[in-house]
Amino acid sequence: MAVIKVWDIAYARLRSPDLDVQEQFLTDFGMVRVARTANALYMRGTDPFHHIHITEKGDPAFLGMAWHAKSEDDLKALTKAPGASGIEHMDEPGGGMRVRLKEPNGYTVEVVYGLESVLPIQAIRQAINSGAEPFNRRGELMRIKKGPSSCKRIAHGVMATPKNIETVMWHREMLGLVCSDDVYAGSKENVIGSFNRCDNGEDFVDHHAFFCMKGEKAGLNHFSFEVQDIDDVFMGHEHLRGTQYEHMWGIGRHLLGSQVYDYWADPWGRVHEHWADSDRVNIKNGSNLLSVQDGLISQWGEGPPDKFIHHVSP
Ligand SMILES: [Fe+2]
Repeated sequence: MAVIKVWDIAYARLRSPDLDVQEQFLTDFGMVRVARTANALYMRGTDPFHHIHITEKGDPAFLGMAWHAKSEDDLKALTKAPGASGIEHMDEPGGGMRVRLKEPNGYTVEVVYGLESVLPIQAIRQAINSGAEPFNRRGELMRIKKGPSSCKRIAHGVMATPKNIETVMWHREMLGLVCSDDVYAGSKENVIGSFNRCDNGEDFVDHHAFFCMKGEKAGLNHFSFEVQDIDDVFMGHEHLRGTQYEHMWGIGRHLLGSQVYDYWADPWGRVHEHWADSDRVNIKNGSNLLSVQDGLISQWGEGPPDKFIHHVSP
């Protein structure tokens, strides 16, 4: 029985030596600044969350990820878990309350409730004609504005660690995450990757909010952000191709989760993903066990380069 069941992932927390440079990357990536203090940068997407990405000033580091609790009572329940902080009132833009925990690799996991919400930003979306539905857009010409993608929301975080089983079990026990797909190499007992989603009962959620894979070192593999649609993935790709940032992988469509993906590194090598069109599942979808060969493949697009597979930001 899990201590609580979180509602969704809330934000990424990184540390970077230059907040101007970080802000420029995130702006090119498709986020919007919502607040900036002397010590930290807060970026939002078009959905009404106050922020989805925090960068503190200092030596480059992955500090952790944050999750939305469903209620204040859930925060109270979490304070009784081993190593948990008490309920803290957050002294940061967006306010709210949080409980801090340490996951098995020593990274801080924040569980937050009552963060301020903001008005959504209207992103331009055009109807899509298809072979089956050729008349969705009548008399209107498709002319997409050039520029960065528009991130909607944060969607998942991915860690690598030698303690992958322990890390996954910790997230399931503390945060109520449930397995969508476990992936094994060789024998079925050798699980080397695990896709986990939030348990919102009958409500449909993304196929995964947390993926954890076996790695030599512990750290962040990537954070992932949903954009408006598949065109928005491609338009963002075009925009970032005209910059100095390093392209890590994509564009393609995953098998597990089925998102159309595109991965870029920030100036300190932290990988940020754009995606559109995820599988949406609920508690009735259950859990699966697949081999690496059957699971970690793309439906279209090139396979992942080594620099992506083995990437870890400590
Ligand atoms: Fe991802």
